[in-house]
Amino acid sequence: ADYQYIKTETDGRVGIVWLNRPDVLNALNRKMVYEILSAFEAYDRDEDVRVILLAGKGRAFAAGADIEEMAEDDAVSMELLNQFADWDRLSLTKKPVIGAVHGYCLGGGFELALVCDLLFAADDAQFAFPEIKLGVMPGAGGTQRLTKLIGKSRALEWIWGGDMHTSKEAVELGIVNRLYPKDLLFKEAIQYARLLSEKPPLAVRLIKEAVHKAVDVPLQEGMYFERKNFYLLFSSEDQKEGMQAFVEKRKAEFKGR
Ligand code: HXC
Repeated sequence: ADYQYIKTETDGRVGIVWLNRPDVLNALNRKMVYEILSAFEAYDRDEDVRVILLAGKGRAFAAGADIEEMAEDDAVSMELLNQFADWDRLSLTKKPVIGAVHGYCLGGGFELALVCDLLFAADDAQFAFPEIKLGVMPGAGGTQRLTKLIGKSRALEWIWGGDMHTSKEAVELGIVNRLYPKDLLFKEAIQYARLLSEKPPLAVRLIKEAVHKAVDVPLQEGMYFERKNFYLLFSSEDQKEGMQAFVEKRKAEFKGR
């Protein structure tokens, strides 16, 4: 596909989305968010792709929403624009999304990272919600997703503070899964994505759905939800294949059906 602000490529069964507006540190304008969404949705429908990897070109992952673009907005123009419908759809992606973050990961860029299922970061990554310095606040899930990840008190400290946090802090708080030296980050992330792409895809996606459910609903409701997904997998060819292969002491060939 022809994109203006992102680049896509596949590596085996991994669909890669590159944020590609490096002269403004990948500041996210609305068209760019729409392009990211289009790429995610295309990969989600593509049976040859099993895992999505999101990373940034240039010296940053993303330094936030495009400030120039929103500077003149008002409440009514934003309501009519309904840009966050695209953000909501980003989080409906069924396949796993791995984020590989280096350099600045700020504001809307941080919110985009928080949409990813797992985050790997370079040791130079810096995280912040600087919105407060602009007289506003996060609007694409920052106050909600960060709070669910690190708790109320720390989230308030980060979002009121607006200042930069290191990737080491982000790992310690559970925002980031793994840290790598900058020149190894992408290699390690793609390696992980490849391994994940060899796992039975239906199980992978139903696990994603169930774990995300746990963040949102009371335990018993989540338990019922988990059970339905568990049962559903017993209608798959991959369940038959996986268990048969175990019995026959051979390696399973998963098809995603
Ligand atoms: C538009 C941006 C930008 C942004 C950087 N640039 N961030 N343009 N929107 N968010 C542009 C700069 O204007 C500059 O363009 C070029 O990128 C390089 O940036 P510099 O400032 O020259 O680089 P540096 O000195 O290294 O400083 C990096 C920085 C700083 C600390 C990240 O750029 C900065 O503070 N940026 C804004 C960060 C921010 O406030 N993000 C939150 C946005 S609000 P020129 O043309 O001068 O070379 C938000 C709300 C989300 O995200 C709501 C939901 C969508």
